[in-house]
Amino acid sequence: MPQATYHFPKGFLWGCATAAHQVEGNNTNNNWHRWEQEGHTAHKSGLACDWWGGRWREDFDRAAETGQNTHRLSIEWSRIQPEPDRWDEDALDKYRQMLRGLRERGMTPMVSLHHFTDPLWLYDNCGWEKEEAVTYFEKFVRKSVEALKEYCSLWCTINEPNIYALMGYVTGEFPACNHGVNKAMQVMANMLKGHTAAYQTIHEIQPEARVGFAWQYRPQTPRHSWSPLDQVMTKIRYAGLNIAFPTAIATGVMKSPVGNFRIPQARGTMDYLGLNYYSVDTVWFDLGNPKELFTRAGFADGADMSGTGFLANIPEGIFNMLKWAVRSFPKMPIIITENGVEDSTDKMRPRYLAQHLHQVWRAVNFNWPIKGYYHWSLIDNFEWERGWNQRFGLWALDITNQKRSKRLSADLYAEICKENGLSSEMVEKYCPEVFETLFPG
Ligand code: BGC
Repeated sequence: MPQATYHFPKGFLWGCATAAHQVEGNNTNNNWHRWEQEGHTAHKSGLACDWWGGRWREDFDRAAETGQNTHRLSIEWSRIQPEPDRWDEDALDKYRQMLRGLRERGMTPMVSLHHFTDPLWLYDNCGWEKEEAVTYFEKFVRKSVEALKEYCSLWCTINEPNIYALMGYVTGEFPACNHGVNKAMQVMANMLKGHTAAYQTIHEIQPEARVGFAWQYRPQTPRHSWSPLDQVMTKIRYAGLNIAFPTAIATGVMKSPVGNFRIPQARGTMDYLGLNYYSVDTVWFDLGNPKELFTRAGFADGADMSGTGFLANIPEGIFNMLKWAVRSFPKMPIIITENGVEDSTDKMRPRYLAQHLHQVWRAVNFNWPIKGYYHWSLIDNFEWERGWNQRFGLWALDITNQKRSKRLSADLYAEICKENGLSSEMVEKYCPEVFETLFPG
C-alpha cells in the first residue's frame, strides 16, 4: 500500500467558517428573524449555538485544540446598529472579546461584515434594492472596523452576493422586498458598490488590511451535452451566477444577462479572492421556470449525493473553480472561504473532505497562490430556510440541550491541520473507500 503525504505550503490557513445568525442565537432585529416568525423556514434559529450567550468560548477551544489556526466569523449588523442613528457599544465590545478570544488561542480571525442578514430598518426600506444601502453599509463598516481593528486585519466585506440575490430575489427562499432577475442584478450591483465602499474605507482606517469578499463559485454543466438549448441555458446561468460580479472587479463593468452596470470604482478592490465551493449544477432548459430565465438546475443522474440531497460530491469542481480563479485573476491570493457537506451521520464528510483537499493540493502544486481553507462548519448551525434539517458541523449539536458531540470528521480535520497535509494513513483510517482514487499505486 503506497504511503505518502500531500503537503500544503508553510503558513497555510486552516480553519472553519461560521456566520452570526447561524450560531449566535436570539438574533431578533434582522430580516431573517422576521422570515422565521412568518413561517418561511423549516425551523426557527432560537438559541442556535448560543454564541451570544458565551458558548463561543468552548467552541473556539474545540477549534484551537484540533489544530485550527484561523476562524472566519461574521458580525451582525442589526446588533451593532439597531437603528440607523444608534450604535450598540456593548455589542461591539462582545465582538471585541470574541476576536481577542481567537487571538488568545493563537487563531487568526477573519471577519465577514455581511452574511445574508439585514437589519429590519434597512430591510423595511427595501434594503439592497436601493443605492442608499451602500451609504448605510459604509457607515456600519467604518464603525465596526474602527472598533475591531486591534484584533483583525483580514476582512470579508460581503458573503455570496450571488446566492443572496438568487435565493431572495429569484427563487424566493430568502427574504426579499421585491422579486425578479432584474431586481436580483440591481441588488448585486448595489452590493458590489457596497463592497467597493467598504474596501476603500477599511484601507483608509487600516492600510495593512487584506480585504476581499466571499464568492460562491458553482460550475454549471448542461444536462444533455448534445442539446444546444441546455448549452445556452448553462451559459446564461453561468454568466449571471458566477461571472458578473467578480469580472467587474477586473473591468469596472458588471455584465449580466439582463444588462450591464458600469461601476468603475470597483476595479482592483480586492486583496484576495474568497471562494466558497459546495457542488456542481447540472442545467437544462425548462419552459415552466420563467422566473429563472427558463433555466433549471439540479444534479447529474447517479451523482454521489449528500444526506438530504442538497449537494452532489464532485471534488473536481473545486479544482475547476481554482483554475478559473487563477486564469481570471493571475497572481491574486486565493482563500477557500467555505467548503463542506451536510451529513448528520458523518458517512460522506470524511471522504468529501479528503477528496476536496486532494484537489486543492493538486492546485497548490501548480504554484497557484492558495493561502487557506475554511471548512463549513465547526458546529451544526442554523441552515437558513432549511432550519436544523441540515447538519454541516464537525461537531454535532443537540439543540434541546446545547450538547456538542464530536464527529469522526473532526478528528480527520485535526490530523490534517496539525500535519499541514493529507496522508495516506489518514485516508486509510477515515475514508478507505476513496484510498485507491487518492493514492493509486
Ligand atoms: C452560506 C452558508 C450556508 C452554507 C450551507 C453557503 O452558501 O454562505 O451560510 O450555511 O452555504 O448551506
